[in-house]
Amino acid sequence: MPIVKADEEAIRDAAEHLRAGRLVAFPTETVYGLGADATNGQAVAAIFAAKGRPRFNPLIVHVLDVGHAGQHARLTTLARRLIDAFWPGPLTLVLDKRPDSSLSDLVTGGLATLAVRAPDHPVARALLAELGRPLAAPSANRSGRISPTQAAHVAADLGDKVAMILDGGPTAHGLESTIIDARGEVPVQLRPGAIAVETIELVLGDRVVRGDLEPELPNAPGQLASHYAPEAQVRLEARDVRQGEALLAFGPRVPPTDGPVINLSPAGDLTEAAANLFAALRALDASGAPAIAVMPIPDRGLGEAINDRLRRAAAPRGGPTADHFDI
Ligand code: TXA
Ligand code: MG
Repeated sequence: MPIVKADEEAIRDAAEHLRAGRLVAFPTETVYGLGADATNGQAVAAIFAAKGRPRFNPLIVHVLDVGHAGQHARLTTLARRLIDAFWPGPLTLVLDKRPDSSLSDLVTGGLATLAVRAPDHPVARALLAELGRPLAAPSANRSGRISPTQAAHVAADLGDKVAMILDGGPTAHGLESTIIDARGEVPVQLRPGAIAVETIELVLGDRVVRGDLEPELPNAPGQLASHYAPEAQVRLEARDVRQGEALLAFGPRVPPTDGPVINLSPAGDLTEAAANLFAALRALDASGAPAIAVMPIPDRGLGEAINDRLRRAAAPRGGPTADHFDI
């Protein structure tokens, strides 16, 4: 199993693999990423093959800073304000791609726009600095599965597909970055994530519009694409525990049960709950329980992103749109 503690030597080796077109999984402050040299089309194609993604949806490009972002994307006034406030950090911006960018077209799925962020994790940053090129990196899980917040999660999903897994310990936020379309004057949130929309509104002194990541997808409840899917069935808004169910709890008042229980945050802290979410889903799945009951989680702050991921985990499997959507 290619898990290596992310020291200086390991980071040099990882950059060497990336330069040779191989895949390296690395920690960010949100989740582990499956990285490839974003200027190498063959390497980017290997990401889609490894994840088993059924189509080439666009990937996030990771850069060191605003200077590197500006080589590939047109930075609007809004983008600069957001970058000043939140980079490096878990905020991804969708911007117009520059025609002279050296990125492979496969990274953007042929779109004229680019999703870019500067991660705030010492290992991710050291790797970007050593490589000297942008890194395309989706979450390092097989398509449709739970995102990895620990190196061992990556090994379980993709261990035989990567040259190396850089181990930087458990990730701090535990949820993917917030995605904002910053092409115009009005910010549009395309994916709720590790930075709550309220925090962004506070900094901008302006409303953030809620948009859809993939507006062409039907969003009627029965057709919601299943994603972050554990093996177990997931039942949301549970106020009791039924026969055979494991319990994903939140807060101090937990219904009685003899089955497995993980409390995302006994204190009811949404930041702590976000950091624990994906590892908790994996652990309850591993308990073998056929179903997981999930207690209600407030929809404010990071609760918006947590509930978004839980709804995807609970969505019906195998429908026409299932697995066509990797957020
Ligand atoms: O926290 C994160 O963002 C993690 C870590 C590894 O950085 N990465 C991540 O990447 O979540 P991924 O590929 O799993 O999710 C990328 C999302 C996809 O839903 C994709 O559709 C969207 O970003 N996306 C990428 N480029 C886009 C674009 N040009 N316009 C709109 N959405 C885009
Ligand atoms: Mg993902």
